Amino acid sequence: MIGLFDSGLGGLSIARSVRAALPAHNLLYLADSAYCPYGPRPIDDVRTRSLVCSRWLVERGAQVIVVACNTATAAAVDLLRSELAVPVVGTEPGVKPAAAATRSGRVAVLATSSTLASERLTHLVERFGKQVQVTTVACPKLVDLVERGELTGPAALATVEHYLAPLRAAGVDTFVLGCTHFPLIAPLIVAAAGPGATIIDTGPAVARQVARVVVAGILPGAGLFRAATTGDPRVVRAAFERVWGAECKIEPAGLIADQ
Ligand code: DGL
Repeated sequence: MIGLFDSGLGGLSIARSVRAALPAHNLLYLADSAYCPYGPRPIDDVRTRSLVCSRWLVERGAQVIVVACNTATAAAVDLLRSELAVPVVGTEPGVKPAAAATRSGRVAVLATSSTLASERLTHLVERFGKQVQVTTVACPKLVDLVERGELTGPAALATVEHYLAPLRAAGVDTFVLGCTHFPLIAPLIVAAAGPGATIIDTGPAVARQVARVVVAGILPGAGLFRAATTGDPRVVRAAFERVWGAECKIEPAGLIADQ
């Protein structure tokens, strides 16, 4: 079984890609809704939550952990790899494909403030973004939209425009979705980015990496998708189902207190 976690509903963009790549494998998705959002939290909190959520998944049979969250990956992927006995696949902003795709030489990375402040992102930009101009923008209101299940409509589009219009005016033609919530509102981002812009979503690349790990020894199942939340399933359910696009039983994971 493949275990995935995120602060909330964003990791469903990764779950969607993993499901498309490995339709027969069972997935267990944990939304750490009681602690959402991770973006503004101190890095030590994100580390602790990442470890707690991963252990919860491993205890329930996950044979690989997919950190379906850029913020948690930036803060905790090394820690998880050293603490867990199963393989860990992380999610990182696609700076490399963005640098290859831009024609204007201007790239924007949209992410949480925590991801943008991380050493991992600094290294990615140093390594792959040298030849282009990289602007970083924290977009917390886009996380809120997805958590509310507000994926369409003029107010949601105006929120996206608020972040993207100045970037477009500055000549940015390539937008990196550096937070797993953002692919879930990709149509709004495409509309706000304007004609000819390139949107970089690393979800399919993460799924390919999961598939490589799975081939090395995790057997397929019946293609089940199970979901749990540290929040109140009755509160989370409507937005969860809107984002996932199907009815879903959401189990209470309890608060899984920090250990
Ligand atoms: N989905 C998350 C990410 O990829 C974080 C959103 C949040 O909790 O602030 O970074």
